[in-house]
Amino acid sequence: MLTTTQQKPLSYSGPIGVFDSGYGGLTILREFQRVLPAYDYIYLGDNARAPYGSRSFDIVYRFTLEAVNELFARGCPLVILACNTASAKALRTIQQNDLPGIDPSRRVLGVIRPTVESLPDHTRNGHVGLVGTPGTVGSRSYELEIEKLHPDFKFSAHSCPMWVPLVENGEADKPGADYFVRQEIEALTRLDGEIDAIILGCTHYPLLINKIKKYLPTNVALIKQGEIVAASLADYLRRHPEMERRLTRGGTTEYLTTEDAAKFSSMASIFLDSDIKAEQITL
Ligand code: DGL
Repeated sequence: MLTTTQQKPLSYSGPIGVFDSGYGGLTILREFQRVLPAYDYIYLGDNARAPYGSRSFDIVYRFTLEAVNELFARGCPLVILACNTASAKALRTIQQNDLPGIDPSRRVLGVIRPTVESLPDHTRNGHVGLVGTPGTVGSRSYELEIEKLHPDFKFSAHSCPMWVPLVENGEADKPGADYFVRQEIEALTRLDGEIDAIILGCTHYPLLINKIKKYLPTNVALIKQGEIVAASLADYLRRHPEMERRLTRGGTTEYLTTEDAAKFSSMASIFLDSDIKAEQITL
C-alpha cells in the first residue's frame, strides 16, 4: 500500500490504471494495448478478494475505492474500472462523492455506459439480453442506462453466479462448464425468445464465448466489451487533450495483484496469450 504522502502532486503525468476484481479486466486491457499501444498501463487485479459478483454494494464500493486510491498513489491520472460489478456498484459514488475530495483533475471511468451506447451497432430488432454477475444484474445499472439511451428497446437480464468462478479457476474450457453455460443461456432466452444481441456484461465472460455460442442460434450477436471500451477510451482521449497530455507514453504495462504473483502471472497468460510478470501488493 502506498501512503498519501507518497502520492504525486496535481500536475503529474503517469500511466492509465486498469482495475478488475481479478483476471477479467485483462480482456479489456488487451484491447487497450492493441488500440492504444503507445501509453503506459498499470493493471491491478484484486484476486485475493475476487469474485466481487455476489458481494454487497458497500463492500464492492469500499474495495473498489481502495484499488482506485492505490492506482492514484502510483501516479495514474486516469483509472478505468474494467469490471462491470465495480462499474455498477461503485463508479457513480466514487465519481460524485470521492473524486472531488481526492483530486478533481483525475478521472475514473467505467464499462457500462460505452457498452450501452454501442447497442444500436449490434441489435437489429431492439431485443437485447444481458448476462452478468448477480451484483451487476441486481444493480439494474444496464437497465437504467438503456431506458435513458434506447427507451424503445426490450431488455432482459439474467445473472450467472457460477461463470466467474469457472473462469477464475481455469475451468472455462472444460466439459463441466457446459452445464452452467447452457443452463443460464436457456434461462435468458426463455425471458425473451426474440433476443438478437446479448451483452457479455462481465469482463470474464469472453473466456466462455465458445461455450456460449454452442447454445445460441448463429443470428444472435454476442457483445464483447474489450473493443467497445477501447474505442470509447480512444474517443475520450481525443475529446480531452488536457488528460491525454498527462498520460505517459512508454508502451509499458505493470501487473499488480493482491494474490500470489506467480499464480497471477500463469493465469494471466491465458487471457493475454503472452507471458507477463506480476507483483503482489496489499490494499
Ligand atoms: N470482471 C468482473 C465483472 O465484470 C467480475 C466480477 C466478479 O469479481 O465477480 O463483473
